[in-house]
Amino acid sequence: MSVSKILFALAAVGAGVASAQSSSCKASTITVSTPAEATIGCKTVSGSVVFEASDDLTGAILINGPETIQGDLIIKNATAIQSLGSSTISKIGGKFELQGLRSLSTIDFSALEEVEEISWITLTSLEGVTFGTDGVTTVKKVRISDTFLGSLDNFKMASVGTFQIDNNKLLTTWETKLTNITDELIVADNSQDLQVSFPRLTNAGDIDVRGVKSLSVPLLKEVTGSILLTENDAMESFIAPNFTKSGESVSVRNNDNLSNVSFPLLERTGGSLTIQNNQKLVTIDGFPELVTVEGAVTMRGNFTEIELPKLDDVRGAFDVQSTEDIAEACSAFEKLSPDGGNGHIQGSFDCEGENENANEGGSADGSKDKEDAAGIFGASAPVVLAVAAIGGLLQLL
Ligand SMILES: *[C@@H]1O[C@H](CO)[C@@H](O)[C@H](O)[C@H]1NC(C)=O
Ligand SMILES: *[C@@H]1O[C@H](CO)[C@@H](O)[C@H](O)[C@H]1NC(C)=O
Ligand SMILES: *[C@@H]1O[C@H](CO)[C@@H](O)[C@H](O)[C@H]1NC(C)=O
Ligand SMILES: *[C@@H]1O[C@H](CO)[C@@H](O)[C@H](O)[C@H]1NC(C)=O
Ligand SMILES: *[C@@H]1O[C@H](CO)[C@@H](O)[C@H](O)[C@H]1NC(C)=O
Ligand SMILES: *[C@@H]1O[C@H](CO)[C@@H](O)[C@H](O)[C@H]1NC(C)=O
Repeated sequence: MSVSKILFALAAVGAGVASAQSSSCKASTITVSTPAEATIGCKTVSGSVVFEASDDLTGAILINGPETIQGDLIIKNATAIQSLGSSTISKIGGKFELQGLRSLSTIDFSALEEVEEISWITLTSLEGVTFGTDGVTTVKKVRISDTFLGSLDNFKMASVGTFQIDNNKLLTTWETKLTNITDELIVADNSQDLQVSFPRLTNAGDIDVRGVKSLSVPLLKEVTGSILLTENDAMESFIAPNFTKSGESVSVRNNDNLSNVSFPLLERTGGSLTIQNNQKLVTIDGFPELVTVEGAVTMRGNFTEIELPKLDDVRGAFDVQSTEDIAEACSAFEKLSPDGGNGHIQGSFDCEGENENANEGGSADGSKDKEDAAGIFGASAPVVLAVAAIGGLLQLL
């Protein structure tokens, strides 16, 4: 063995001893309250790394040393940190949580590939995120809220559980190669001009999109939950060209500029179908293949035309109201009504034109809108009380 090889071997043994001796590696939590403490002498941290907000945590913080943090990496309220980086960490087994770091402008984790959950909230100066060339490819849950990020291009996962992007006012485009969002996509209150594009997405759990200008889902085939498009005031049209089936509801509500809604292949909704208060939508003809609605049908708006040519099975109520004259369409729908028709609409039947208040009211649509829940409760509570009172009277008799 040459001298240099022996020295190398000794150095390797020495390094092994050093890291075995570093008791912090096995600690359940490594606490960091100065920039120097952010250099950690272990390859694998078996617990979490938690920063404690302190006046010493200012400027650039480098968390170098570990390749794997098996627990969480958590930094909250350290308001003077300006940049955060690591060139060694490739995996965080738990949460990567940053909250209330108001001066943080850049994050640079050049080796990071895998994280269980990313939660970055109230990072009001954050403008840039850099990952390595491959980007972060594995994350189960991502929430990015209240930042100045203009791009999410570094998130390169093919599949994710939950993706929540809200209140990022400078975010104007978001295109991802995601093919599957197994749990939930939430996009809300980012830039009014946000254009969202999922060119490869085929499947999702729930999709809840608010305040975007456009949403492109050319390959989306199926959601196991609901699709909710609400208050996308800059959106002019929405088309889901390959979408055939929802496990729960489809709801398109309160989109001020929407003039075209098209689900050309949709055959079945597992919950209700609601198209309501989209006042520029004058023609509802985007459901040519729809046969079955397992919940209620609610269509309320300023439309002059409404066609649901194949509709033949509605398990809930049918409520179609327009500010315009839709007498002809109503007489066609009456053929399915439970009273005069064949009863293929199982719930109550109501179809009415020239109703000034057509955009308001309506029934439950399966959305998680608190407003709605309150509205439904507000409307039905007196009825429940009245029934209870009658019940009481009957018992007295
Ligand atoms: C961080 O700040 C928020 C808001 O000021 C506060 O509610 C929270 O308790 C703080 N968290 C910690 C860990 O200090
Ligand atoms: C989407 O992910 C879920 C959960 O991992 C899986 O069961 C499903 O098969 C995936 N769908 C597609 C089309 O990849
Ligand atoms: C529907 O999906 C297929 C691939 O499954 C694709 O070739 C086709 O272009 C999509 N249709 C539209 C209108 O995008
Ligand atoms: C809605 O459309 C009108 C007319 O095209 C436009 O002036 C307005 O800015 C749009 N609203 C939004 C929120 O984009
Ligand atoms: C709505 O968009 C679809 C798909 O782009 C198109 O085929 C249809 O003609 C449009 N309908 C209206 C009323 O513009
Ligand atoms: C929709 O109808 C209501 C009631 O007639 C009306 O106040 C409103 O201006 C109409 N909206 C549009 C965009 O025409």
